[in-house]
Amino acid sequence: MKNVLVTGGAGYIGSHACVELLEAGYRVLVIDNLSNSKTDALERVGGITGKSLDFIRCDLLDRDKLRKAFDVFRPDTVMHFAGLKAVGESVEKPLLYYRNNVSGTVNLLDVMVDSGVRNLVFSSSCTVYGEPDTLPITEDSPLGAVNPYGQTKLTIEYMLRDVVASRPDWNVSVLRYFNPVGAHPSGEIGEDPLGIPNNLMPYITKVAVGELPELSVWGDDYDTPDGTCIRDYIHVVDLARGHIKALQKLATDPGLMVHNLGTGRGYSVKEVIAGFRRATGQDIPCRIAGRRAGDAPAVYADPSRAAAELSWTAEFDLDAMCADAWRWQQKNPEGY
Ligand code: NAD
Ligand code: WQD
Repeated sequence: MKNVLVTGGAGYIGSHACVELLEAGYRVLVIDNLSNSKTDALERVGGITGKSLDFIRCDLLDRDKLRKAFDVFRPDTVMHFAGLKAVGESVEKPLLYYRNNVSGTVNLLDVMVDSGVRNLVFSSSCTVYGEPDTLPITEDSPLGAVNPYGQTKLTIEYMLRDVVASRPDWNVSVLRYFNPVGAHPSGEIGEDPLGIPNNLMPYITKVAVGELPELSVWGDDYDTPDGTCIRDYIHVVDLARGHIKALQKLATDPGLMVHNLGTGRGYSVKEVIAGFRRATGQDIPCRIAGRRAGDAPAVYADPSRAAAELSWTAEFDLDAMCADAWRWQQKNPEGY
């Protein structure tokens, strides 16, 4: 199980996974169309690890090119990060999201079948739980997407379940991430959003560096202790390490497995702002704005299944998430 083909490996989470894979001794081929990333990330992965990895610029929708990449590299396992992820954009352009995420994954699975590759780790999301009725969220909590992006993740999950049912020799790990934040502690790789960030942590770092004037806090009248929404933020390095644990588990556990990757601890928007100040000394000017459509008051994981079955728990706390996000931002004010 030494050759790992990483789709979307030039992106935020995929690049951190590449570091962990190389450090654990795997050989890595990244497939990415660079629609939301740059090859600089991969060069820096090489710099951090002192190891080389291969890269082919390829769109998952280009099935012939994908097949050639499989023929050349002969992967044992696929880690599938490639996808579009902006919730708002998915509402505007649902077909773009279905084509890219769902059709792209159909192509990938077809090529895996043709090439005899039976091991897959898939990037799913807590978004598949929609607005949860009970907390913390377990893997058995009800599923239901509330936007097209979430629907693509859910559709892919169902597709994987059906493929595994038809092919009992397949081993598939579905990892449902909560809110990935932070950056590699080296400050060499991190999140590099195009334009104005949608997500909280990159927005905060852009305000701290002076690129944006202030943070809008989307609502302080929720039914939470301080009125702002609660999320389960998880350090991207912890998340990446969860993938190695899942990959190792595939070797011994056939079939489909599903795990939440979160810390199990929720923080409110105000707590994140306070944490950022504590960890970095930076004050974040903010104003209370109206609620953002589609935001659930509180979302956090029960990560105990991953602890029990994968021997994985998150190690970095909120201060480390903030400090590492800030180090990345300061070292790379323009991104890559
Ligand atoms: P990202 O945009 O940084 O990385 C995704 C990568 O996939 C990019 O490098 C992009 O160029 C590539 N890509 C997209 N479509 C492609 C295609 N058709 N063919 C080839 N390459 C393609 O995003 P990320 O934050 O690293 O997310 C990785 C995965 O994790 C995604 O599937 C995302 O939906 C999922 N996820 C992300 C979060 C989050 O908050 N970041 C949370 C839960 C799940
Ligand atoms: C976090 C909190 C906002 C920005 C998203 C996707 C989800 C998953 C993870 C991929 C919320 C508040 C934010 C701002 C704010 N991704 N906020 N001002 O919405 O929990 O989850 O990323 O699968 O599918 O929806 O993350 O970082 O956008 O927001 O007050 O400028 O910060 O209201 O409470 P979210 P987020």
